[in-house]
Amino acid sequence: MSIRFFESRKLFILSGETISYVFYIDANGRPVHLHFGGKVLGEEGLVPQEIRKGHSSFSPWGPGENPKDSPDALMLEFSGFNSGDFRIGSATVLTENGSQITDALYVSHRIYPGKEASAGLPCAYAGKTGNVETLEVTLRDTACNVEFILRYSVFEDCDTIVRSVRTVNRSASPVVLRRLMSAQLDLPHTAFDFIQLSGSWARERHAERTPLHPGIQSIRSVRGASGHQNSPAIALGAHDATEYSGDVCGALLAYSGNFLIEAECEQYGTARLVLGINPETFSWTLAPGEAFETPEACLTFSGEGIGRMSRNFHDFMRNHLIRDGWARKKRPLLVNSWEAAYFDFDAEKLLGIAKSAAELGIEMLVLDDGWFGARNDDTTSLGDWFVNTAKIGDLGELVRKINALGLKFGLWFEPEMISEKSVLYGEHPDWVLHEPGRRRSIGRQQMVLDMSRPEVVQYLFDTIAGVLRSASIEYIKWDMNRNLTEVYSAALPPDRQGEVAHRYVLGVYRLHEMLLEAFPGLLIEGCSGGGGRFDAGMLGYVPQIWCSDDTDAMERIRIQLGTSLFYPVSAMGAHVSVCPNHITGRTTPFVTRGNIALSGTFGYELDLTKLSKEERELVRVQVAEYHRYHDLIACGDLYRLSSAFSLNAFDAWMYVSRNRREALITVVSRFSEPNCGVRFVRPRGLDPETAYEVDGMRVSGATLMALGIQVKLPAGDGASRLYYLRALS
Ligand code: GLA
Repeated sequence: MSIRFFESRKLFILSGETISYVFYIDANGRPVHLHFGGKVLGEEGLVPQEIRKGHSSFSPWGPGENPKDSPDALMLEFSGFNSGDFRIGSATVLTENGSQITDALYVSHRIYPGKEASAGLPCAYAGKTGNVETLEVTLRDTACNVEFILRYSVFEDCDTIVRSVRTVNRSASPVVLRRLMSAQLDLPHTAFDFIQLSGSWARERHAERTPLHPGIQSIRSVRGASGHQNSPAIALGAHDATEYSGDVCGALLAYSGNFLIEAECEQYGTARLVLGINPETFSWTLAPGEAFETPEACLTFSGEGIGRMSRNFHDFMRNHLIRDGWARKKRPLLVNSWEAAYFDFDAEKLLGIAKSAAELGIEMLVLDDGWFGARNDDTTSLGDWFVNTAKIGDLGELVRKINALGLKFGLWFEPEMISEKSVLYGEHPDWVLHEPGRRRSIGRQQMVLDMSRPEVVQYLFDTIAGVLRSASIEYIKWDMNRNLTEVYSAALPPDRQGEVAHRYVLGVYRLHEMLLEAFPGLLIEGCSGGGGRFDAGMLGYVPQIWCSDDTDAMERIRIQLGTSLFYPVSAMGAHVSVCPNHITGRTTPFVTRGNIALSGTFGYELDLTKLSKEERELVRVQVAEYHRYHDLIACGDLYRLSSAFSLNAFDAWMYVSRNRREALITVVSRFSEPNCGVRFVRPRGLDPETAYEVDGMRVSGATLMALGIQVKLPAGDGASRLYYLRALS
């Protein structure tokens, strides 16, 4: 049983394999947080933190309440607005009389096995591994008659707790949600570092670490997508936490639109973390009886450093978020036409690439941008999802020829976008997000469709489904190459315009759902100018996301390792591309480009017909390695071992199979160094008692982990090696 309730103290203990989350309902009906950290065994010793606040009159309390129970000074699971807790809160509700005062107290709770899904949003599911239980605590604001149901699902096998809030308007008048966050977590002190993934287009998800400081520290998006700039995921690590030791709380949001994650260090020395839909661009009207669900927030705790937090989240996503077994399933090894040909291709050129691909053991050709409407550059045709037959002939025939070579076929779409020069724009100019009388901003020559409108989603489904039915198409790459501006819908009344940004995201999710229902088995790769929408929300629909438009292997080390802080390697789109790299101009050995793309979905992004004989041989080796190591990489435990910017002049990371019988270490030296000492890479996670074969030697796991393996790399920048470890005993 992972959720226990102790009636006498109204105390809840939620436990995973190594963690517990504890709170109770106090005498006034407030849910007071007690503990999120290592596992507790029973209720003994679980005493609330007493804040020495000197009963300040600046922390108010309710009539008849004990001053020490001021909502401003308690660690709370949920806080309203303008009712005594002055910290960042969870909910603000505007009622018909103009009040935004929100204050909800305990009414009831229920505990049940498994987890219910919320329609229309990405949802974690119980799945086949581990025990899953859910607690729902109902709070009510009796003045405005609005209910808040706090949901906690415990995923025991991966020490993850998924939280969300469902609000129901039980009153007879409409109310407006001004703020409704997915989770609020109060922590007993502020000695944490805020660890986030930040960057830009082609430089996504670089890990950054800064100490919490008085005031509020936050990351957010108002772009309509989670964005390249910040991923909706953070860790709060103790100042002394490392990859392998120390306390770390991880929190991420399964949401792909405007988000806010904020941490506040407050006057009494506690820290509050709140995450959810960004209230800056959100409001939602609830008619009497209507309900609203927040996206899910996923929390984990590791007492073994950042690495364990990552592995918890990887397991959580692979076992309970990514659907249809895709997380562990081998994806077709593909070649993508983008960096091979950009817009410059015809059927003959594609067949040439397909033929080379088939000879080399590649399993799928993906035709990227430029096959539809009249598109030969980025100025036209988005929205016109019909085949440019003048360019590639009949798609069905082309695909049959590609299939005849033994290859599967995949196709690129950018469903949410529209070009000014398109048939669709001529017919439906009002389908664009815009405010009448104001300019329509352009990004990459395109505008954004109003995905909040069901008829737009239906049009996209009909046209995309039409193409998918016309040929054997087993994969689509779903791109999104700009962010949202003039977020205003011609289809909604003035007082509901605050709903557009969230309705847009719901439209995106709905279209995924419709396509996956109509085409079971379809593999969708998410993309947004690379990794501009790489988040757990999208991973609720698609098992992989193109990690970055930057395919430079050296850049990818930082991007992919950063991404791995929260997201599993099986979800990271990674390909070998040509050198000098099209974005950085850097040249990296072909072997290294392969070794780094192996730590992802693996594929090629270059014109295979132009490879040298040596490179073709290397492709054959890489293809074999992909098959050999797939399960280890996609399903194993990831350990980040070394960063090139620390003592060792190389980056290293490893995968260990769940039964610890196999492991794979990748070592890359960014810069060649003369006359330096030979350094060791120390594996982690092996079985100390087992003897492993590595580099022709037989060594015990204990010795390997104590001493390490001497890293000997060829000279030259960007040299790399894989070390494969196999259990002998
Ligand atoms: C985006 C994607 C690329 C490619 C181009 C096509 O930038 O990230 O991989 O598909 O669009 O226009």
